[in-house]
Amino acid sequence: MTTPSIGTEFDTVLVVDFGAQYAQLIARRVREAHVHSEIVPHDITAAEIRERAPQGIIFSGGPASVHADGAPTIDQEIYDTGVPILGICYGGQLVARDLGGEVAKTGRGEYGRADLERADLGTDGRSLLFGDDAPDSQVVWMSHFDTITRAPEGFQVVASTPDTPAAAFESPERGLYGVQFHPEVVHTQMGQDLLKHFLYDACGCRPSWTMLSVIETQVEAIRAQVGDGRAICGLSGGVDSAVAAALVHKAIGHQLTCVFVDTGLMRKDEGDQVVETFKRNFGIELIHVRAADRFFDKLAGVTDPEDKRKAIGELFIRIFEDAKGGITDADFLVQGTLYPDVIESGGGAKAATIKSHHNVGGLPEDMDFDLVEPLRDLFKDEVRRVGEELGLPEEIVWRQPFPGPGLGVRIIGEVTPDKVALLQEADAIVRVELHKAGMDREIWQAFAVLPDIKAVGVMGDERTYGYPCIIRAVTSDDAMTADWARLPYDLLEKMSSRIINEVPGINRVAYDITSKPPGTIEWE
Ligand code: XMP
Repeated sequence: MTTPSIGTEFDTVLVVDFGAQYAQLIARRVREAHVHSEIVPHDITAAEIRERAPQGIIFSGGPASVHADGAPTIDQEIYDTGVPILGICYGGQLVARDLGGEVAKTGRGEYGRADLERADLGTDGRSLLFGDDAPDSQVVWMSHFDTITRAPEGFQVVASTPDTPAAAFESPERGLYGVQFHPEVVHTQMGQDLLKHFLYDACGCRPSWTMLSVIETQVEAIRAQVGDGRAICGLSGGVDSAVAAALVHKAIGHQLTCVFVDTGLMRKDEGDQVVETFKRNFGIELIHVRAADRFFDKLAGVTDPEDKRKAIGELFIRIFEDAKGGITDADFLVQGTLYPDVIESGGGAKAATIKSHHNVGGLPEDMDFDLVEPLRDLFKDEVRRVGEELGLPEEIVWRQPFPGPGLGVRIIGEVTPDKVALLQEADAIVRVELHKAGMDREIWQAFAVLPDIKAVGVMGDERTYGYPCIIRAVTSDDAMTADWARLPYDLLEKMSSRIINEVPGINRVAYDITSKPPGTIEWE
């Protein structure tokens, strides 16, 4: 398997991961400053760092106490590599402690908002981290129990809060910096400016990581990898495979063939939109397999959620294999793997499998192809921006996440063509109304669910006996946790009355107010 990396073309800052989700957010903020970043585990050695030759290193925060047994540490030689280092929160405490400062349990942690005061450095004094633009005081976000009480020898304390005497300290001569607060969170007023000072002034990074340059670099990398070979790409209708296909098409044109298996379980008009966009607008060679009948046959009588997922996943793979059988000379398979998937599969204990995520659009492992994964260095927001640059329509670029098995996992009980048709109509109303209310970008997912029950209602003078439909709308950053969205009542009312008036067969609407955990986002 050959996968080119785009990391080498840009100045890179390594984000050392000391736990949980902090590192990804820092890496994203660095990229927002147009500097390429990569996440590495905290057991990386100084030798490995030298080999990768980053322009800078950021130690992330983490949940541990530096005083706890087994708390993550860092190879001490890293401080001698000469690469500028910024420690954030736990990372800042490590820098302070490792270099002879003091991190104490004061018994008073800080959580949430804190007022940060810059130190008076005298008329000639200057802070590299704050530069000339930061105000004397600003609001920062804190989340720590231990506190940096003394900076190491030779470091200048450049800011403090009432509870943290050394909230920011630096030694520009040595290229070492530490902050107790979180510059990466939006609640820290000048956080992004501080990161930029570190990146541009301390590390000398060039702000060259733009989506246009990413596209250019990837196009070259794809051409170099594929040569005059042939590639195929399974389109699922989702953002990732769409952007990957558009990017590869830009690089190799007609050497790419896409396969789109229409399962009949997609949202209303989605299949047509895929064909319209890729075949008509982009002129991509597209094999469009209309397979709804085969999926409904296979799903007849299947009610167990896991059995449904398996049935859908297996049939999808069989159909994909048949379709690609027609392209006998393809050596390359394009996949929309993203950076978070790469980080996830690279380390750490896997979370327990809660349900089998058969990724329709994903493929069996025993296929004999080299993979082309042009998005494997990108976060989701970057993929969307690449999609926009490539001219993909807004409905595809800003599409909500949609499960591979499609509406099959939003219908409880047996999946039939009639139920899918009902759900498609109700779901379309939910999404259209959300869009009209201008709320689609703040909501992670909003959709309708069809449970396997019926109830009595009354419409006009008639008694009805129909399905209820459940609206589910959640906010989330990563789908690992989610909260039910506080949609305005007026909006819910509009959705509800339109569904009941326009979708015969549904006579009630309920709103799901369960967070994840304990619920999941999907209903199956
Ligand atoms: P749950 O329901 O587990 O879903 O809270 C978490 C996120 O994953 C999406 N999802 C899937 N995505 N293939 C996918 O590509 C799948 O089989 C699948 N099942 C769930 C779901 O929409 C949510 O965003």
